[in-house]
Amino acid sequence: MRPWSVLNVAMQNPMESWAFLRWAIHDPMGSRHYFIDRWKHRDWHIRMYPVDHDWRMRIGSTDDDRKQTEQLWPSVLRRLEEQGLRPGPESYFFWNDGDPAFIQAIWCLVRRLQATKVVETGVAHGVTSRFILEALGMRGGHLWSIDLPPPGSPEKHHEIGAAVIDRTNWTLLLGSSRQHLPHLLKEVGPIDIFIHDSEHSSTNMLFEMRLAWEALRPGGALIVDDIDLNWAFGEFSKQIKCEKLVAEAEPIRPDLRRFNQKGLFGVLLKPQSSAMKP
Ligand SMILES: C[S@@+](CC[C@H](N)C(=O)[O-])C[C@H]1O[C@@H](n2cnc3c(N)ncnc32)[C@H](O)[C@@H]1O
Repeated sequence: MRPWSVLNVAMQNPMESWAFLRWAIHDPMGSRHYFIDRWKHRDWHIRMYPVDHDWRMRIGSTDDDRKQTEQLWPSVLRRLEEQGLRPGPESYFFWNDGDPAFIQAIWCLVRRLQATKVVETGVAHGVTSRFILEALGMRGGHLWSIDLPPPGSPEKHHEIGAAVIDRTNWTLLLGSSRQHLPHLLKEVGPIDIFIHDSEHSSTNMLFEMRLAWEALRPGGALIVDDIDLNWAFGEFSKQIKCEKLVAEAEPIRPDLRRFNQKGLFGVLLKPQSSAMKP
């Protein structure tokens, strides 16, 4: 890749290049892999992750799910804004809050699977945590969340979970998923739903998905955000037999770093009767 061609691309897409540069400063390794993949195989996302436009129907999302999440959004956004926090893409360093489509998928699955045990990694402002707790609250249940706030920025640690109001059914573990996830899953498993939204390196995603799949009860769901950042979700889903869905995120502002300016998330539904191992 020659410097002039990089400059040429940057001049053609100034906003996108600026977003990339900020991301590269915060996450040099992750952004480098993503950028090289994009450069070498411009259409790998499309080949690896054909979008299931009917994902709502396939997970059984109803009008009620949409209405209920839409009703809750204004109060979640207000709570963040009252604390001076800007929701949406790049809201906590270079990380994004859960977008409305991702939230709708989570909401629907928590309700449809009658989940009582949910584990998530990656909390940031706690948008996903808040919606999970509200969806669980209707029948009782518990959410365990793991987050490793950036150690170099202690002044931002109080923002973790800012969107959550009622913490009764919530356990927040501070530290990396590598540190907490193995014994948490041993202690609380089998679980109904696992959500990955922490460090999106392929190593970490594979580590979390493998552990979580084992701890998931038959019929449970694994929901993975930002799958378009690397090949991990595609590789993992090839190793197991299950229903796989790829959905487009619907961010409240375009995410200029992404190939489709939105991002993708994935859902894996564990068969009802199997003890399949990856
Ligand atoms: C994309 S944000 C989570 C957004 C959140 N799910 C929401 O919708 O509001 C990613 C979070 O993962 C945390 N994180 C980064 N690396 C981690 C790791 N190795 N283990 C656990 N959490 C991590 C970051 O501190 C950040 O808060």
